[in-house]
Amino acid sequence: MTDIDTLLAPRMHRFKPSPSQLATARVRELTAQGRDIVKLTAGEPDFPTPEVAKAAVMELMESGTVGYTPINGTEALRKAIQHKFKRDSGLDFALNEITVGSGTKQILFNALMATVSEGDEVIVSAPYWTSYPDMVQLAGGTPVIVRCEQNRSFKMSGEMLKEAITDKTKWFIFASPTNPTGATYTREQIRELADVLLEHPNVYILCDDVYEHLVFDGRSFATLIEVEPRLRERTITCNGVSKAYSMTGWRVGFAAGPAPLIAALSKMQSQSTAGSSAVGQAAAAAALLGPLDYVKERTKDLQDRRDMLYDALNAIPGLRCDRPEGAMYLFCSCAAFIGKTTPAGKLINNDEDFVHYLIDEGDVAVVQGSAYGMSPYFRASFVAPREDIVKGAERIHAACANLV
Ligand SMILES: Cc1ncc(COP(=O)(O)O)c(C=O)c1O
Repeated sequence: MTDIDTLLAPRMHRFKPSPSQLATARVRELTAQGRDIVKLTAGEPDFPTPEVAKAAVMELMESGTVGYTPINGTEALRKAIQHKFKRDSGLDFALNEITVGSGTKQILFNALMATVSEGDEVIVSAPYWTSYPDMVQLAGGTPVIVRCEQNRSFKMSGEMLKEAITDKTKWFIFASPTNPTGATYTREQIRELADVLLEHPNVYILCDDVYEHLVFDGRSFATLIEVEPRLRERTITCNGVSKAYSMTGWRVGFAAGPAPLIAALSKMQSQSTAGSSAVGQAAAAAALLGPLDYVKERTKDLQDRRDMLYDALNAIPGLRCDRPEGAMYLFCSCAAFIGKTTPAGKLINNDEDFVHYLIDEGDVAVVQGSAYGMSPYFRASFVAPREDIVKGAERIHAACANLV
């Protein structure tokens, strides 16, 4: 029998599996045991695939051939991406400045794997999407975590960025709106970061725009190079159809940036998945070329659910969360409950204990803040049926009230 520890490469110990996927797996396991768990862990919108995307896939099926696609994506999809950047951000990209991957995640992975080596530093603001530091470590680099507190709306200032930059900095990863806080930078806040980046010509920028369309209360979205075009030559702008069009399962993401860098991303992908699925690309192209009105309606629907969960959680004595400006999550402080004891006599030492208590004794699932690099917090997704939002908040309320 194989000893797994001897078999696995050292790189396998440099990163963790995704904690939100672990939470989802735990809910599945408990549900299979017959438990009624309210799930506030979703990292994906719950709307159906857009009609235009379905129609494009049917048309592809009718054509009879579904073959390999170019590594950097079909020309039809890259043209649709070109159109999207022009329509939404006024940006012009040539077709060789665009590449396609199996999700935004793969694009980010390709970019880091293609460029980061031992000793390189990558600046990531915390709370962060869990994959950023893990991918940096997997690539052999060092994530430099900049803690952005709740009292500054979880956002990084120019000054904080400046302090984090060293002569080893290779990338600054920037996301707005962000997962897990929904923090959405204004143009002025982006300007402040851009001014610092202009002073440091050796720093490259990975700009993750995957939540672009999920901004609330009439806010407008701006991507980094739209605010500061002089950063274009060292920025990779990443995006995908997962969140905007509720197409997570179609696995299509894309990037635009300087042609040689974009070619390096494709080269990396050529020895893993090769070209992304032809079916997904046909669907994504149709979504990107299609209308945006239903996307706006869906965002409004998410905004209503955000308000429901925000009002319900903020009414619970001891919890403290801000109304998120974008994305799909509330990031809530549970500091008041650390040091308390559960009815079963367990001490709550940290946010992980708090979250385990909620699921084990409260029948409601959320994800601990430590997974996103900031404690003591938890992330609660408002992508859930309205009745589950109500029920979930009631359960959190009751569980909190039972802690002494
Ligand atoms: C900030 C952020 N970037 C990227 C992704 C990956 O998205 P995709 O489904 O396009 O791979 C996610 C998914 O949760 C995310 O939260």
